[in-house]
This record gives sequence, C-alpha cells and structure tokens, in this order.
Amino acid sequence: MQINYQETSKDLLKRIDIHEKYGARDIDKWNIEVLNPQPGNKILDVGCGAGKQCFLYSDYTKGQADITGGDFSEELLSKAREKLSARGDKNIMFQFLDFNKSFAFPNNSFDFLSSAFAIYYAADLKFTFTEAQRVLKPGGRLFVTGPLPENKQMFYDIIKEASNQPIPPMPGSSRFKGDIFNTIDSIFSKTELLTFENPLTFPEVQPFVDYVRASLSEDRKLWTSMFNNKEEYENLIRKIEQVATRWFTRDGKLVMTKVVGGILAIK
Ligand SMILES: C[S@@+](CC[C@H](N)C(=O)[O-])C[C@H]1O[C@@H](n2cnc3c(N)ncnc32)[C@H](O)[C@@H]1O
Repeated sequence: MQINYQETSKDLLKRIDIHEKYGARDIDKWNIEVLNPQPGNKILDVGCGAGKQCFLYSDYTKGQADITGGDFSEELLSKAREKLSARGDKNIMFQFLDFNKSFAFPNNSFDFLSSAFAIYYAADLKFTFTEAQRVLKPGGRLFVTGPLPENKQMFYDIIKEASNQPIPPMPGSSRFKGDIFNTIDSIFSKTELLTFENPLTFPEVQPFVDYVRASLSEDRKLWTSMFNNKEEYENLIRKIEQVATRWFTRDGKLVMTKVVGGILAIK
C-alpha cells in the first residue's frame, strides 16, 4: 500500500506545541520510562521529523549516547539540523532515510530503534520491519508508537458531524494493532503492546481549531478527500468551528484524548 503522505514542519511543530500546552501527561516521559536510554547506547530514530526524540535521548543521557535521526523530508531535516547547531550536541546526526528503501547501516548496529508516529506509514510493512530488525544488535529493542483506533474520538466525531462525510482512512490507527503489530511479532522474538493515554483539555475553542488546521492541512495530503480547493477547506474549518463551539457551550470545555499504542519488540 503506497501512502501519499507528507508532513510539514509548520503543522508538526504546531501539533507538538498543542500537545505540550493542553495535555495532562507527557509522552516524552513515557518514551524514556519504556526505553531508558543509557550512555554509550547507539540509537536510531526513524521518521525523526524535527528531531524531538533524538534531543530527548541526548538530554536524558547527558550527551553520552550516539544518536542518528533519519527522515525523508529535507524540510524537517533542516529544522532538526538548525536546532542541533543551536544546541551544540556533538553526539547527534541527522541524515536522509526513506523507510521504504533499504536502511544505509550495517547489520547489528543499534541498541534500540524508535519511531514515533512515523514508520507505520510504510508501504511494505514486512520489508521495513525486516530492515529495522537487521540493523538492530542481537537483543536490541524496537519501539514504535502510533495512534490506536480509540485515539482522538472527539476530534473525529466533531469532524464527522460538521462534514457529514466519512473520515478518510488513517494509515496509523486503522492498522496499528492489527497488521503492524502482527508484522513486527512475526519478525522479532518478543513483542508487546503498551498504551499511553493523554487527555488534552482545551479551555477555549480556538486552540482546538488550530489543532484541526494543523491536522487537516492540504499539505499533509491525508484529508484531501474532504475538500477540492482552498474555499472548500475554509468552509469545512468554519463548520468544524461551529460544531466545536456548540460542544464547548454544552460541556464547558473540549477534551480530546490521545490514545497511543507503543509496540515494544526485542530482536
Ligand atoms: C508525524 S511526524 C513525526 C515526527 C517525529 N517522530 C515526532 O514525533 O515529532 C511523521 C514523520 O515521518 C516522516 N516520514 C514519512 N514517510 C517517511 C518515509 N518514507 N521515510 C522516512 N520518513 C518518513 C515524515 O517526514 C515525518 O517527519
């Protein structure tokens, strides 16, 4: 399955900012609790975007882990490199990596490989996770996070009510527990599914609408079945804002719960 999806730094950083501002829990803490990166570890983060997880691992190990972030978006890699040069970490490297192609690393290279909200877009899951397994050291860990089907129920309900249209299939949540878990399980020696829930409470409608814009944005190519041009897009956003306002007036707040799955596997 080829997925025509593209992330932009503007939309990605906006969503991260909103998670941080309105979320009750911190997904970074969960990531660290699960992986517990150690000084001396060799780490690969696939679909690293603007480098969020790489900087997290570097901070946690006080710059003592050897970290590579790979992404196929040159725009996001430049953002990551910009931040890297501002921070001055010497132990992180960002490089081009397309997870639909062979990974440019020898066998048995990494202690762990993480991929946050990214690798589940892979066109051929068997191929991509076989590559992930190949580059891990024996006993190395894979940690893949992504949305579960229950994720952001309120967000999808509001969009359904506003648009009167079915939600386009989301490549992550529709196959995370099924195809993705099963593929990893068939390649790795031990696989388990962890979950993380984070309610985002919006004290007003505007930040919710900002989140909607950063998700539905035409540039990401995930939601384009819902509109044909800028005008239709703006119409849809207006309708979503109206429904959200109705819900907000009724309930006094808007709560959107992120329900994240983490597949942890051992080579
Ligand atoms: C939702 S973002 C997550 C980024 C980052 N892990 C984070 O949590 O901030 C998904 C990332 O997957 C990347 N991506 C999508 N398809 C890819 C591919 N074929 N190869 C490598 N990266 C890809 C996108 O460019 C984007 O950076």
